[in-house]
Amino acid sequence: MHSYIKASLAPIKNIGLIKLYDQESFKCMKKSGMLAAKCLDFIEPYVQEGNTTEYLDKLIYEFALSNNCIPATLYYRGYPASSCISLNNVICHGIPGKKKLKEGDILNIDVTLIYEGWYGDTSRMFKVGKVSRKAEILVDITKECLMEAIKILKPGIRTGDIGARIQEIAEKNRFSVVEDLCGHGIGKIFHDHPNILHFGKKGHGYELKEGMIFTIEPMINAGTKDIKLLSDGWTIVTRDKELSAQFEHTVGITKDGCDIFTIN
Ligand code: MF3
Ligand code: CO
Ligand code: CO
Repeated sequence: MHSYIKASLAPIKNIGLIKLYDQESFKCMKKSGMLAAKCLDFIEPYVQEGNTTEYLDKLIYEFALSNNCIPATLYYRGYPASSCISLNNVICHGIPGKKKLKEGDILNIDVTLIYEGWYGDTSRMFKVGKVSRKAEILVDITKECLMEAIKILKPGIRTGDIGARIQEIAEKNRFSVVEDLCGHGIGKIFHDHPNILHFGKKGHGYELKEGMIFTIEPMINAGTKDIKLLSDGWTIVTRDKELSAQFEHTVGITKDGCDIFTIN
């Protein structure tokens, strides 16, 4: 099967093959990933009651430019901002705006920074003041889903193993996994082959090989998995208006495990 291709021989676009990157590319991804992680560290103290999400986005834009990065989401397919900020019942792709943060809110901030042509994509949950116990647990379990999935990564496992692990943890805690959005190959393009589903069956999907680079970004709902797209064409919310949480890292498969690029 011709499913994989040496990344240095492939055009910089989605050609439906899985690109395998070399050591030099991993170094580049570590830099862009680290900058994206630093951006989220930087924004944390501003995630406070009274601040608007638009203000946070402006700070992210300035952080990117002052670190020689381009915010990948800005004008991507017409998306109007440098980050996605998704509050409470918003699953993902929340557009920053005039809404003020208030005590009890949980929010995902998702940034993708391009540094020297390489994309680092990461998101985390933030809490405003004291949040409900349910919100607290949802956030903790969603982080656990991502980190436990990362723990199993190595050559030879399959993408279905990743999804199965995430689904297992979410459902054990009576949460649901969003199925309409997924992780993705990444490198010198934002969204590449393959899709990384956050649900699935062990032993199914693509085999992981050394040199693969992709994101894992589970979206976990407190209620049902059903989504709704708002009329702005971007914002995706839970159909039942319950809370949703998400964490994301960009990772690269190594000889016997993985590198997490989006850490500081
Ligand atoms: N950063 C998101 C991801 O994790 C993509 C956002 S695309 C946007 O893949 F256009 F909505 F910003
Ligand atoms: Co992503
Ligand atoms: Co992202």
